[in-house]
Parts: sequence; C-alpha cells; structure tokens
Amino acid sequence: MQVNEYKPLIVAFCCNWCSYAGADLAGNNRLAYPADVKIIRVPCSCRVNPMFILRAFQRGADGVIICGCHPGDCHYTSGNYYTRRRMAALFSMLDYLGIEKERTRVEWVSAAEGAKFAATMNDFAKTVASLGENKRLEDLRCKK
Ligand code: FES
Repeated sequence: MQVNEYKPLIVAFCCNWCSYAGADLAGNNRLAYPADVKIIRVPCSCRVNPMFILRAFQRGADGVIICGCHPGDCHYTSGNYYTRRRMAALFSMLDYLGIEKERTRVEWVSAAEGAKFAATMNDFAKTVASLGENKRLEDLRCKK
C-alpha cells in the first residue's frame, strides 16, 4: 500500500558561479536531495528581486531559498552583500504578511560544497514540510 506523503515544492535561486556549481557537484557525487527542489540559475544572488520570491509563493511554492557565494567571494564583488540586506528586509515583511520566516532562507554555498548543498536542501525541505502547505500568499488563479 502506498501512502501519499506530502512533499513541499521548493524554489531554489542559485547563483551561477558558486551555488549552481555546488548543485552540479552534488549531482555528480550522487548526493541525494529532494526532487521537488526546483533550481533557477541566476547570474548572481543579487539578481533575485524580492518580488520573485513573492511571485514564487503566489505560484504555489511552499519554500524559497536563495543560494549564493560566500561573503567576500561574489563574482561581482559585493552582490551577495546586497542580497543579504534585501532579504533581511523582505523576510521581516513576510512576517508581517503572516508567512512563516522558516519558509525562506539565504545560504552561502561554494562550488566545492556539493555535500553542503545537498544537506542544506534536505534540511530546508524537512523544515518546510513540517510547516505544511503554503496557502497564505497563494494566488488561486495560478492553480491548474
Ligand atoms: S556571483 Fe555568487 S553571489 Fe554573486
């Protein structure tokens, strides 16, 4: 008998230079992370407009994670510092909207950290699964 287990839909924005390469390394090393993590490659983590995150929640994402280079390692020198500040502001607003803070996360993952990428995604998926489905910001017009 098969039990229908709830699997959260997670959107992961990964910067091209570090985190996306880290995800690649995780794949090459056959490190498992949930298939429901949908990766969107961006040139730099600072390319992620806060509106992208709200839109992902509207479109049915249960969790959104932004992964970038470690501070000081950004390919564009200071992009991830902007990300850190922007996301801190957005996350405090999400609180105000009633979205649990745990549904979002910023992580620094380098190209050599495939294991960290897989562990981060597994941990984030577990956290989001414990919160259940995201219904607060969901736009019903986006439902199929
Ligand atoms: S290039 Fe990776 S965070 Fe900027």
